[in-house]
Amino acid sequence: MNFPAFIELPFEMERHGPAGMEWSDKYPESLVRYFLKNYTKKKDRVFDPFLGFGTTAFVAEEMERIPYGIEANRERFEWAAGQLDHWQNIKHGDAANSATFGFPKMDFCITSPPYMPCHHRWNPLFGGDPKYAGYDQYLKRLGLIFEKIAGLMKKNALVVVQADNLKGRRYTPLVRDIGHIVSNVLRPEAEIILRWINEKPDYPYTHCLVFKKK
Ligand SMILES: C[S@@+](CC[C@H](N)C(=O)[O-])C[C@H]1O[C@@H](n2cnc3c(N)ncnc32)[C@H](O)[C@@H]1O
Repeated sequence: MNFPAFIELPFEMERHGPAGMEWSDKYPESLVRYFLKNYTKKKDRVFDPFLGFGTTAFVAEEMERIPYGIEANRERFEWAAGQLDHWQNIKHGDAANSATFGFPKMDFCITSPPYMPCHHRWNPLFGGDPKYAGYDQYLKRLGLIFEKIAGLMKKNALVVVQADNLKGRRYTPLVRDIGHIVSNVLRPEAEIILRWINEKPDYPYTHCLVFKKK
């Protein structure tokens, strides 16, 4: 299978998040559409374990794929699932419990985990629970979550993880760290650098790490 080293896509939110809720971590529909067009076919099962505002699921339905997903935040879950034909495939819960929702094996996964700067203590994968504070715990948990995701994928299925490196008080090489952690459970296939055409204000590039189920 061929993967380009570099692509360009519009940074445009076709679907806005709900009024009154923060939705700056939503990704553009163009990103999902690009991967589904090139690496899936109609009726494929498309999984997003960090579903957020449902972008993956909405585009999957638009392209006649079957969406599945998990979202930990109840408001986000209800907002997205409430607008989907396949709402019963969308679960409210923790992606670490992916194996417990009775999902069938998936053909494709595209997702973007919550990001954590390396100097923060608040671990977004645990909603800030102090028992799991710190970047090490975050990476460890991501490793476990992707192990569970790998268990749900068909043999040779692709898993695409979109991530940014984080600027700020301290630089966080999140793309490298996620790549390293996920490589323990899925075979790395490619890293695609994506330039947003109508530039995202803070960061014009993002990274799509492509893995394959061994
Ligand atoms: C970067 S956002 C995903 C945005 C999504 N791609 C979209 O376009 O709307 C990450 C999401 O993961 C959710 N999340 C955080 N921890 C989680 C967990 N342990 N299991 C499942 N979802 C989780 C957050 O609530 C957030 O909505």
